[in-house]
Amino acid sequence: MFEEAQYFAPVATKDDGSVVVELATSHPGFADSVYCQRRNAIAALALAHTPGSPIPTAEYTDEEHHVWALVTRELTAKHQKYAVREFLDAAQRLGLPGDRIPQLQEVGDLLEPLTGFRYLPAAGLVPLREFYGVLADGLFHSTQYIRHHSVPFYTPEPDVIHEVIGHANTLASPRFAALYRAAGRAARRVETDEALEFVSKVFWFTLEFGVMREDGELRAYGAGILSSYGEIEEFRGMDIRPLDLTAMGTTHYDITKYQEVLFEAASFDHLEDTVGAFWDTCDDETINRLLAASPA
Ligand SMILES: [Fe+2]
Repeated sequence: MFEEAQYFAPVATKDDGSVVVELATSHPGFADSVYCQRRNAIAALALAHTPGSPIPTAEYTDEEHHVWALVTRELTAKHQKYAVREFLDAAQRLGLPGDRIPQLQEVGDLLEPLTGFRYLPAAGLVPLREFYGVLADGLFHSTQYIRHHSVPFYTPEPDVIHEVIGHANTLASPRFAALYRAAGRAARRVETDEALEFVSKVFWFTLEFGVMREDGELRAYGAGILSSYGEIEEFRGMDIRPLDLTAMGTTHYDITKYQEVLFEAASFDHLEDTVGAFWDTCDDETINRLLAASPA
């Protein structure tokens, strides 16, 4: 139904109860049996987790902590040049460790006093209604594994670098956190799969891949751009279009490539007044009206 379903490696529970993450043959970690075993163990931890209990600790190797440190250092420098001020201020307040991968429990402990958000471990793809719905409760489903150490600046799937450097830094801002919660309320309010897909596409083109004009410069606030070493250097050259709910809710995207079409908010107020207000009030009927008015 939705492209994001292809984004995550499938997770299977076998008859004997063992959990297996089915990496594609093209995945950089496919032939690394030690990495595959760690992925299986981390997925099993997420599946066994019950809401309200502490998030189990994932084991990482020194090489993996090194990947985090390297990517953090490079992205932090790029953020100064390309990220919106609200993100930079929030990241400073959150104070993620730069030298090691933080546990998701620790991420929640840092975030909660700032905006009330906590993390939940996800083994892989979480159904859309559940993923977005719990945002309304201040909960964020997050993968816990990290990309393969052989290619520190590339991942074919959302990993802990994307989830934490991209999303947790954003969720440390009260203004962004309010938008995430509004998206969650919208996802719970709509009833049809079409309306839910529309809500999630607006999320994709804003909180994942949104850009904003700030002091005359185009800057990024989407977690997908801000966690991507390559994409953060490219977004200013993409097809930049004005913020438009119908266009965002109906534009096709390919998750395997850099986003070629991006939508620009004129300011933070513009984002809140347009997208925040939409999520605050939308229902199946308003989304059907927008779809009916869509030129395509
Ligand atoms: Fe994301």
